[in-house]
Amino acid sequence: MSEQAAGTFNRRSSLHGHWSSRLAFVLAATGSAVGLGNIWKFPYIVGEYGGGAFVMVYLGAVFAVGLPIMTSEILLGRRGRRNPIATMRILGAEEGSSRHWQWLGAIGVLAGFLILSFYSVIAGWVLTYIVKSLTGSFEGANLQQVTALFESTADDWVLTTVGHSVFMIMTVVVVALGVQHGLERAVRILMPLLVLCLLLLVGYSYIEGDFVRGWDFMFSPNWQALSSEGILVALGQAFFTLSIGMGTIMAYGAYLPEGAPITSSALIVALSDTAIAILAGLVIFPIIFANGLDPAVGPGLVFEALPLAFGQMPGGMYFGALFFVLVTFAAWTSSIGLIEPAVAWIVETFYRPRTEATILVAVAAWLLGMGTVFSFSIWKDKLFWQGTIFDNLEYLSTNILLPVGGLLITVFAGWILCRNSSSEELGVGTGFLYKGWRLMARFVAPAAVVLVFLHATGLIQL
Ligand code: TRP
Repeated sequence: MSEQAAGTFNRRSSLHGHWSSRLAFVLAATGSAVGLGNIWKFPYIVGEYGGGAFVMVYLGAVFAVGLPIMTSEILLGRRGRRNPIATMRILGAEEGSSRHWQWLGAIGVLAGFLILSFYSVIAGWVLTYIVKSLTGSFEGANLQQVTALFESTADDWVLTTVGHSVFMIMTVVVVALGVQHGLERAVRILMPLLVLCLLLLVGYSYIEGDFVRGWDFMFSPNWQALSSEGILVALGQAFFTLSIGMGTIMAYGAYLPEGAPITSSALIVALSDTAIAILAGLVIFPIIFANGLDPAVGPGLVFEALPLAFGQMPGGMYFGALFFVLVTFAAWTSSIGLIEPAVAWIVETFYRPRTEATILVAVAAWLLGMGTVFSFSIWKDKLFWQGTIFDNLEYLSTNILLPVGGLLITVFAGWILCRNSSSEELGVGTGFLYKGWRLMARFVAPAAVVLVFLHATGLIQL
């Protein structure tokens, strides 16, 4: 069958079946969005880039840039109904543009792969923290002790390699067996439980932490503290946390039943994801300020702040372990989304069995992940360009590839896809909602990404 014929043939359905309902899609997209980005990354970059002003830019980026791009990405996915590369090639040809749009899919496959490589290492830290909590390592620990505990963990490359390997295997098992739906069903219970734990922890921070200072830090913008790099990082985080810009949401959109509403689904995902990040911040910062921890310590932040809290509360050993288990699940549903574009691409392009494709991608990502393991241990002084290997992988994937991917997605959906195609697919008529989306997708989101890039490279001053 020719590519074109295959494309047409599959338009009403995808090769891999469908979500049972729109709710299933929203849950899967939320499952991919909520992960280490919310619990681990958001607090430490807010701390690093100075608090309130960064949070404001981040919120603006999520809703003014991220939301229209997420909508565009779902829309393209459902119209193309294939893996992101094939989808872009087919839609590019169909709309009378170029096949070269397929390179957009390639950027996504690459970004997902790079992110997976370090994501798995951090998730490995989380795994070791489950054990540490249960064995009482946090009991009554003070600032020096939690800091030393984190540093010795990250420095112990054998231990972190074990964590990294276990997590990668967990990802492979789910993706290879094709039991994502099983995992997603579990998440229906575990995600609310994670929110409940976060709320309890916010209560703890309110009583025991310096809540006023933590709140102020997050919500009173001090614009002086915001660097141009901070703006780029805030934008990158919006893409990272929403899982957009790399085709995962496009791939998920490919399985969305016809007629299911896209805009409101995207809004639900963005709101829940943001709420969880904010809650995590409200847990972490009051603890940090009450204990004199530096908010700008970097990737170890939550691994230092949370044990302080767990170590002081009654039953903290078990509560801490439960919390890290829930974070592991959140990371797990994200990692399956990170690996999916590469796996789908190999399956559909080379006709390899799914298991083989999954193992191949996982082994490669595991190997690259060792670079991150060493970035926190034996190679922590090997610095180039943005810093360690980890810093470079994170910067390249999150601050460059995702925004570039997102930019191309929104340009395609806003400018290449004709009005009839997009309004038909979005299914909200041609009224206010459609016009609003199109305005954001054509002008606001692309302009914002370009301006932030130019600003970060120092080419323009805002
Ligand atoms: N959103 C995820 C998190 O916050 C990370 C992520 C980025 C992701 N891009 C993705 C997950 C694509 C799944 C698919 O942790």
